[in-house]
Amino acid sequence: MKANQSIRTLDDFRRIAYGFRLPRICLTALDLDLFTIMNTRAWTIPNLAKKMNVSERGLSILCRNLASAGLLRKHGTQYRSSHLGQTMLNAQSPEYRGAYLDLMRQQWDDWSLLTQSVKSGKPVEEQGPEDPEYRRAFTWAMHYRSLEAAKHVAKQMVFPRAQSLLDVGGGPGTFALEFLRRNAQLQATVWDRLAALDVAREIAASCRYGSRLSYHAGDFLQDPPPGKFDVIWLSNAIHIYSPQENTALFRTLRSALNPGGSLLIQDTFLSDKDGLYPADTNLFAVTMLLFTQTGNTYHSTEIQTWLKKARLSKTKLIRLQKGTGDWEGVLIEARHT
Ligand SMILES: C[S@@+](CC[C@H](N)C(=O)[O-])C[C@H]1O[C@@H](n2cnc3c(N)ncnc32)[C@H](O)[C@@H]1O
Repeated sequence: MKANQSIRTLDDFRRIAYGFRLPRICLTALDLDLFTIMNTRAWTIPNLAKKMNVSERGLSILCRNLASAGLLRKHGTQYRSSHLGQTMLNAQSPEYRGAYLDLMRQQWDDWSLLTQSVKSGKPVEEQGPEDPEYRRAFTWAMHYRSLEAAKHVAKQMVFPRAQSLLDVGGGPGTFALEFLRRNAQLQATVWDRLAALDVAREIAASCRYGSRLSYHAGDFLQDPPPGKFDVIWLSNAIHIYSPQENTALFRTLRSALNPGGSLLIQDTFLSDKDGLYPADTNLFAVTMLLFTQTGNTYHSTEIQTWLKKARLSKTKLIRLQKGTGDWEGVLIEARHT
């Protein structure tokens, strides 16, 4: 297992420390709605600066950098957006991923408060009561984030004999809907907070198999599960919580599994003995420090230990085809025996 970035010399350190420059340039382009304004047309800097109401000097330096990063194409004195810029970054395109882009933009300020969070061990904002507006925007962001991964996962994880699936912390229901699409006999339930379920309902209403999705509002750490299921899908939830909270959750979920049923956990897992890699998994732990009270990222063997404590001792790792899943494409399966 190798480090993504190995910092040995001052030059290495400088390269990494100044690594904020291109991300900041990309986020400024989003702040200015540059890709939406450019849409599919070619623009000179003076025309575009006038349209955007920004300085020609600033825009010309910004666009040069975006072009050298491949987000714009330059032909003579004209710039045009790349395919990505014209589609997923452009609010005029049906492929626009707005809510997910907004989440990336918002994280800039929060990451700037990391020193404070490291000192206190607490998130940057004290969480008050769950704000439905925030939850709604976040749930859309999760949908846009997972659209492709959900298709790939559901193609590889088929449940021909399962009748029922519970998507715990399923948010927009993106994964549950893909499982329904691939398994005609299946009924699925999303268990999440009310505001998240409103988004799931909207998304499900736009697809034929969405009528086989049900909704259960509540807190999965506090409330009893909504029945018994053949498959439980738990994706991107355990990183929000501590080992103790996750162990308690596994006990709850065991009680919701039919005999022979499976709990499938999708998340980002540390995989080496010292818990240093993948480096992205450790970076994601920082996001959890900034945004959650007790969240972290964990080694897959540690999670298997919690499962054993919850009497889910028959566990194994499932590896999806390389590059097709969420994160590194590793799932943990625990069977109810
Ligand atoms: C990071 S999102 C993951 C969404 C989806 N499972 C996915 O993989 O894209 C975590 C979800 O868990 C939900 N969640 C977190 N803690 C919860 C709790 N205690 N009770 C109910 N839902 C919870 C959040 O509302 C959110 O929808």
